[in-house]
Amino acid sequence: MSSDRSTVTVPKLVAMKAAGEKITMLTAYDFPTAQLVDEAGIDVILVGDSLGTVVQGRHTTLPVTLDQVIYHAEMVGRAAARALVVVDMPFPSFHLGKYNAIENAARVLKETLCRAVKIEGGAAQAEVIEGLVTAGIPVMSHTGLRPQRIHQLGGHGVQRDREQLLADARAVEQAGAFALVLECVPAELAAEVTAAIRIPTIGIGAGPHCDGQVLVLHDLLGLTPGRVLRHVRRYADLGTTIRDAAARYGEDVRKGSFPGEEQSFQ
Ligand code: KIV
Repeated sequence: MSSDRSTVTVPKLVAMKAAGEKITMLTAYDFPTAQLVDEAGIDVILVGDSLGTVVQGRHTTLPVTLDQVIYHAEMVGRAAARALVVVDMPFPSFHLGKYNAIENAARVLKETLCRAVKIEGGAAQAEVIEGLVTAGIPVMSHTGLRPQRIHQLGGHGVQRDREQLLADARAVEQAGAFALVLECVPAELAAEVTAAIRIPTIGIGAGPHCDGQVLVLHDLLGLTPGRVLRHVRRYADLGTTIRDAAARYGEDVRKGSFPGEEQSFQ
């Protein structure tokens, strides 16, 4: 567990880069898991639109709606006592103009206890990021592989366009983003981007030189059977634990050993 229990704020996160302290970030989508992740001392909890794939069982993140994200963010925001909770803006909640994006992101801050939003996009989204920041809404940007562009990209491949990645990073920093997620970027290129900007980079499949790391919680816990991603390290096999527990319960009910005396009222 982290020794520093003070609340993680946006300025504190930026200061962590200057101090050379690694930033830890994980996704969560409900109250109990967010509480556990928070108690574990993780700095940032992301209510990711990955909920479309790992919670809703869909193939992409595209069907996730703003109302669904807010529903999950409301639970996570109440659970996190220390972590900074960041909420993913789903497709296309920030593509219909700056004012529409502000209206949508403001809903997140007004209807949940979360304190920042994340949007997929680089230089092309700079105007929207600037609008949100001007309205007082902290923005984490997300470049490299952008899952909301899956149909345009044609897959989840590694992103190697050096000029574009550097231009995007500089543009979102200039627009006022407080951090940048780099997804599926070669390690050396991610290191170059990290050195080129003052705001922290948080990598997923972007090597060890980013200022922080993020993973999807369900991948780390072994709750995504059949989803084998090179950048993931499995820290638990909860899929097997849950399946075994459910099977043992089923057996006990069938053979009449549950409920026992301890679980029965006299
Ligand atoms: O939606 C999500 O979980 C994300 C992370 C993979 C960074 O965007």
